[in-house]
Amino acid sequence: MSQNTQPHQQANNLWSSRMAFILAAAGSAVGLGNIWKFPYITGENGGGAFVLVYLACIFLIGVPVLIAETMIGRRGGQSPVATMRTLTQTEGTARGWRIIGWNGVIASFLVLSFYAVIGGWALVYIGKAASGLFTGADAETIGGQFGGFLANPWELLLWHSVFMAIVVFIVGRGIRSGLEKAVNMLMPLLFVLLIAMVIYAMNNGSFGRAVSFMFSPDFSKLTTAGVLTALGHAAFTLSIGIGVLMAYGSYLPKDVNIARTAMTIAVLDTSVALLAGLAIFPLVFANGLEPGAGPGLIFVTLPLAFGQMSGGALFGTIFFALLLVAAITSAISMLEPVVEWLEEHKGVSRAKSAFGGGLAIWFIGIGTVLSFNVWEDLHPLGFIAFFEGKTVFDLLDFLVSNLMMPLGGLAIALFAGWAMKREGLPADIGLQGGAFRAFMFVLRYLTPAGIGVVFLYNLI
Ligand code: PHE
Repeated sequence: MSQNTQPHQQANNLWSSRMAFILAAAGSAVGLGNIWKFPYITGENGGGAFVLVYLACIFLIGVPVLIAETMIGRRGGQSPVATMRTLTQTEGTARGWRIIGWNGVIASFLVLSFYAVIGGWALVYIGKAASGLFTGADAETIGGQFGGFLANPWELLLWHSVFMAIVVFIVGRGIRSGLEKAVNMLMPLLFVLLIAMVIYAMNNGSFGRAVSFMFSPDFSKLTTAGVLTALGHAAFTLSIGIGVLMAYGSYLPKDVNIARTAMTIAVLDTSVALLAGLAIFPLVFANGLEPGAGPGLIFVTLPLAFGQMSGGALFGTIFFALLLVAAITSAISMLEPVVEWLEEHKGVSRAKSAFGGGLAIWFIGIGTVLSFNVWEDLHPLGFIAFFEGKTVFDLLDFLVSNLMMPLGGLAIALFAGWAMKREGLPADIGLQGGAFRAFMFVLRYLTPAGIGVVFLYNLI
């Protein structure tokens, strides 16, 4: 099977247009990372300085890797593992680069295990919002509702399972009928709703304080661990370094300009994160909540707003429904490398691969479910100072987001920048002349140096 170079490119199995790919890749990029994670890690890391470093990472590191990874995926036209095997041969490079493919399949497997648990939270909150539970409730009540929900492992497990079932079902159906349809309409709707939320926050929250929290950098608040988090999050939010874009790129028609497409995706993704921050922090400050409250941040701030505004039950329901959609379009992209790999290497059908892979991921996810209750005080690597206080969920998130994704990105930048042959690259990337040379300079020097410096600082 894998002897056949670029099977996805030959089969009649490509994205139907550039727009379809943008929506799918943006659907992968825009997810819980933007709306759930970005605000809470910005809160935990003191605001402005963190946001600035994050933005620098997006454009200096994220975008070049996004371009390189998609290009590699389209050239190889197979699962990340087989694509890297083929390219190391056709490009005549060392075999060691194949680790990029393996890193991708393993990391996307692990990331989905905890992502699906949080996806379950979004699912539950649709029902909570619809039932009018938040109406008129104060911050304490809403915090209590969230705490009570987390304390019950069975409930978390139930919603984690439902979320995984939805993802498996969609992925099992294939690229066109499954993935494309799900994103086409709902992504734009999410954007519109977020803008509405920002307008609400402008009128009803401490908007000025939020803006200065997010945009006036105070570097004394930023730790080196915070810089690593910013780098990791830039990788996480763009879905890079983990094989997802390689997998999606394998279905990308030849005539699509990758550089332009990547910029579009990065700008969309960044706008959604910033809008989410601008919707949430005004409410955090206006209600005397703690910006560094951690993973529960949006689940305790937004319901408060929905409980106070007129029509809040409806608005809240729609908001969490769209959050769910954003989470699903990201989650399906995480399952894709695993499924492609199972299809190719084990020769199982798409539907069976999705089911088998999904089941294994679901099982690992139980560790994250328990991190919020029964295993709350279990800190498996707690004897190492750096990991003190980290639960199973924290460790998985750290391993994938702060290590496997940025290091995967580093390897991709080095592979595309230094190991691959130059011929054909300008056309494949979609940049000519000076623009191409400038891009290659960033990819060869600045991107690796940026990632390297962050890691060195953290080690010292
Ligand atoms: N980018 C997604 C988000 O921000 C998460 C993701 C990570 C998706 C890795 C795919 C791969 O929510």
